[in-house]
Amino acid sequence: MRMRSNNKASTNTVWHNATVTRDKREKLNRHKGAVVWFTGLSGSGKSTIAHSVEEKLHQKNCRTYVFDGDNVRHGLCSDLGFSIEDRTENIRRIAEMCNLFLDAGVIALTAFISPFKKDRAFVKKLLGDGYIEIHCDCSVETCEQRDVKGFYKKARAGKISDFTGISSPYEIPEAPDLVLNTDKMSLDDCVSATIRLLEKKGISR
Ligand code: ADX
Repeated sequence: MRMRSNNKASTNTVWHNATVTRDKREKLNRHKGAVVWFTGLSGSGKSTIAHSVEEKLHQKNCRTYVFDGDNVRHGLCSDLGFSIEDRTENIRRIAEMCNLFLDAGVIALTAFISPFKKDRAFVKKLLGDGYIEIHCDCSVETCEQRDVKGFYKKARAGKISDFTGISSPYEIPEAPDLVLNTDKMSLDDCVSATIRLLEKKGISR
């Protein structure tokens, strides 16, 4: 069961039930909606895998959308930083957005560090069965070696504060649906494992 948020600031509102339901949209789409939630350190491969999985799903005629941490922080979450409170608000907004996409019958793929257990637990509770958690498991050392964006170097030099893995914690998921060891597995293998999981769960064909 998915949940509906109970925002105390929006008291004078009434929920409007649509006649075109998620079930009807999924039938039209010929696949189920889902939120494939990739979590892991910066540079662990979340975005690359999410976009490659999206390509494969698109080829299978699935309706998809990727939410990417860096992109979302340019718009919807441009007012947020990287304190614990701001990360929680970042994930809350994304979760609410994903809840709408789930209702639209879309397969949403997300690439957010989402380092805190309590925030991932919130997303899981909100999205119910539609939430599929995938841990991109990669050592800080490897991410730091890759340092595609040069942020680890800056974080080590003290030029970026609260940097995940360096000066802010990453809490490892306890029971993800899938673990991808991205410092050992190839991109193709990570994508195949994700697609197999979605097929096994009856989301895509
Ligand atoms: S989250 O913790 O709130 O889930 P999110 O995935 O949106 O983070 O954003 C992470 C991206 O922001 C990183 O990939 C990196 O490019 C950038 N970034 C900038 N500052 C930080 C920081 N202090 N900690 C982590 N990532 C940062």
